[in-house]
Amino acid sequence: MAIEQNLVPELKLQKIEIAGFIREVFSYISRFKGQLFILKIEDSLMDHPLFPVLIRDISLLHKLGIKVLIVPGTRKSIDRQLKAWEIESEFNEGVRLTSEEALPLVEQASLGAAQRIMSHLTASGCHGIQGNWVSARSLGVIDGVDYMRTGKIDRIQKDILTHLLDEEYIPILPPIGWNKLGHAYNISSTELATELCKYIEVGKLFFIGNECGIKAEGLKTGSMTSNLALTDSGLISALDIDQANEILRLNPQLEYAQVDYLENAIAACKAGAKRVHLISGEMPGSVLQEVFSSRGDGTMVYANQYSQIRQANVDDIPDILRIMQDYIAKGFLIQRTSESILEKLQDYVVYAIDNAIHGCGALHAFEDNCAEVAAIAVAANYRKAGIGEAVVHHLIELGKMRGYKKLFLLTTQAPDWFYNFGFRTGTVDDLPPSKKAKYNTKRNSRVLIMEL
Ligand SMILES: CC(C)(COP(=O)(O)OP(=O)(O)OC[C@H]1O[C@@H](n2cnc3c(N)ncnc32)[C@H](O)[C@@H]1OP(=O)(O)O)[C@@H](O)C(=O)NCCC(=O)NCCS
Repeated sequence: MAIEQNLVPELKLQKIEIAGFIREVFSYISRFKGQLFILKIEDSLMDHPLFPVLIRDISLLHKLGIKVLIVPGTRKSIDRQLKAWEIESEFNEGVRLTSEEALPLVEQASLGAAQRIMSHLTASGCHGIQGNWVSARSLGVIDGVDYMRTGKIDRIQKDILTHLLDEEYIPILPPIGWNKLGHAYNISSTELATELCKYIEVGKLFFIGNECGIKAEGLKTGSMTSNLALTDSGLISALDIDQANEILRLNPQLEYAQVDYLENAIAACKAGAKRVHLISGEMPGSVLQEVFSSRGDGTMVYANQYSQIRQANVDDIPDILRIMQDYIAKGFLIQRTSESILEKLQDYVVYAIDNAIHGCGALHAFEDNCAEVAAIAVAANYRKAGIGEAVVHHLIELGKMRGYKKLFLLTTQAPDWFYNFGFRTGTVDDLPPSKKAKYNTKRNSRVLIMEL
């Protein structure tokens, strides 16, 4: 205890931040345990010095009880192989036309990319497994263009994959499909990753490549996208299917890779994936950050977000503390502990999106038919998305419903924000007597009040 008291403030703050981060990680682990994550990993990353680190991080996810299935991207490996044999590649609308002559080389390149992932998984102590679980047929001739040995997916053997995942294997599916006669077809790995979402319940689908996400700067936004949350480096943090469609519609100048990601993410969400993430494999720890913190650095497209404000329960306490921790450390909010929250738990509400908590607030009853609006906080990455506003509106309505005559609050940092809701400046004398007696003159918070 004495050592703790002697710590310099920065060190103390650091310790609080680390503890807060660990809490956050634990809350995510329990949420994702047993879920399936599909990762499409571009082969252009395989020569990058951080590639072994990426696979090690994926192995870590697996060791924590998350089921993992990998689809290697193979475009670069195929290009390289065909070039070595001086075979020209032809494309039509981004789809490779695979000739009979090219097919064995395409197979070799695809299986080689899968094999490289398998080797790195083995080195990280995990068991990868490859197999022919995808049936395909020829794309045929479309508008006069013969796609030859380029195929489309017919069926995926869900039962075998489910069994392998239950047995803790990591299936690796190279983008090759076979027809009933055993003829191989070159299929798209993006299509394969997306199609898998129709067959198996998928918690998250990752597109891991050289792009880190969708940059907000310079993007045109519309009525659905004017308030999107951003990451620290200015990427769009999250958007739902409708918002992704709006961005595509208003920004024809977007690069091909970004359009491709957004279109595939929308398709995957429609196919059943809950979350589709675009992250860069060139950034150390990008997968872990995206999974285990609210401060990921990629773009996520999600399906049918279900958001609600509800009364907090005991299981929410670690999340409430996690959200408030940084603000407490900076002095924006007063100190709270698990015990102090538990004592007044019925006063707390949380803002949850698909069971993940991103905001909180409380309404404490006082004498004279007054109540205090308190503990308003929104997780750093979810600010500026209307969550704080929704929580405050909810508490005001709750106050009206319960028949309070007056609401008050104490704030040091956000008086201007609260004016927007109709609060006005008051004085310490406006506080109910028991609150006035405890008013901290050193903190000198502004008093705001609202008659209901
Ligand atoms: C204040 C807080 C709750 C707002 O949550 P939020 O979900 O980001 O708020 P909303 O999305 O509803 O509103 C965002 C708008 O409020 C503005 N805003 C945020 N904090 C503000 C502040 N302290 N003062 C004035 N305006 C502020 C933002 O700039 C943004 O404006 P814009 O829409 O013009 O860009 C959040 O920033 C937070 O948790 N702050 C730290 C804790 C705190 O100070 N709590 C209040 C003390 S009781």
